[in-house]
Amino acid sequence: MKKNANAPSEEINLAYTVPKLKDFSPAALDKAVEKLLAALDKEPVALTGEDQRKAFRDRWLARKDGILMQVNELWLKAAPKEAKREVGQRVNKLKAEVEAKVEAALAMAPATKGESAIDISLPGIRRPIGAEHPIIRTQNEIIAVFRNLGYSVAEGPVIETDYYNFEALNFPPNHPARDTQDTLFIAGQESKPRREQLLLRTHTSPVQIRTMEKMKPPLRILVPGKVHRNDPPDASHSPMFHQVEGLAVDTKITFGDLKGTLDHAMKALFGSDVKTSFRPSFFPFTEPSAEMFVSCFVCGGSGKRGDGNAPCRPCKQTGWIEILGCGMVDPNVFEFVKHNGYDPEKISGFAFGMGVDRIAMLKYGLDDLQLFFQGDVRFLQQFV
Ligand code: DAH
Repeated sequence: MKKNANAPSEEINLAYTVPKLKDFSPAALDKAVEKLLAALDKEPVALTGEDQRKAFRDRWLARKDGILMQVNELWLKAAPKEAKREVGQRVNKLKAEVEAKVEAALAMAPATKGESAIDISLPGIRRPIGAEHPIIRTQNEIIAVFRNLGYSVAEGPVIETDYYNFEALNFPPNHPARDTQDTLFIAGQESKPRREQLLLRTHTSPVQIRTMEKMKPPLRILVPGKVHRNDPPDASHSPMFHQVEGLAVDTKITFGDLKGTLDHAMKALFGSDVKTSFRPSFFPFTEPSAEMFVSCFVCGGSGKRGDGNAPCRPCKQTGWIEILGCGMVDPNVFEFVKHNGYDPEKISGFAFGMGVDRIAMLKYGLDDLQLFFQGDVRFLQQFV
């Protein structure tokens, strides 16, 4: 039978009042608790509208004279000394139970007047499902910029072979450039040939090779993903972090294409005012190689903040922030995938790689990288 949920509040049976106890024996207490809970179970049936919800809540939970408060006064405080312990335990348990029942009843009851207590046509109770992590959000923003330029997304394994992580990227065995990427090797691989030995990829660059093995030129890909290095965690290092790699291969790709593409991408990411600057660098898999800087979007490139005297921290007062490594794909790299149409005599390309975590820190003005990985909801809720 459908309960009459629209009954005016006078009809709600509020017969229950907290009795004074004479008998404090466990059996008597059980009985009293049972009666109280039975009364509570009956009451919320006709809860409709905000006024009734509040009245119901107050009647049971109000600090001033709510039923739980009366229980405290009439049962616990009135109990003789030798029964206090027993009564206290029961009252505590009862409190938790009453609170849970009241909250549950309120969650079930519609907030607006005139709706039935359970209306299956209403949307369900919304449960918090979290939000995009700031690193993933930043990663997706970067991807969106390049998607608009015709890049597609490629991915590869986090556990990688020495061949893809180093050798095919023109890091020969024992080349000192390997030392710049302090590598976490998987144990027990010594009996395998070096190129098959497994490690945690130190960068997303191996996906350049993996993709060129599968797809013929022309190619424009973006590779987001996790990478690992043997760096102890501190405010700016983490043994696990995220990169986004880019690769464009076609006939007649020039360094001008690289500069134009990356300059556009930085303006899209950080605002149309930012300037970019390229400085010579070295990576085994690009030639020439460069590091790209963007003018500091915090201080506008002046290196100073506020009234003109406070030092700007993100750019260390230089006015420039290093954002990525890039360069023209080294012909030696194409040699490893020549069989799939990548003849360095006929095609050329550029590549770049950036640290997503660092960019997210800059974007959100954070000074401690570890905040991203500690899973503290109070931190994460700021990004909802
Ligand atoms: N893989 C490099 C690193 O992790 C970053 C990088 C530099 C990627 C230059 C590139 C590039 O694609 O062209 O340090």
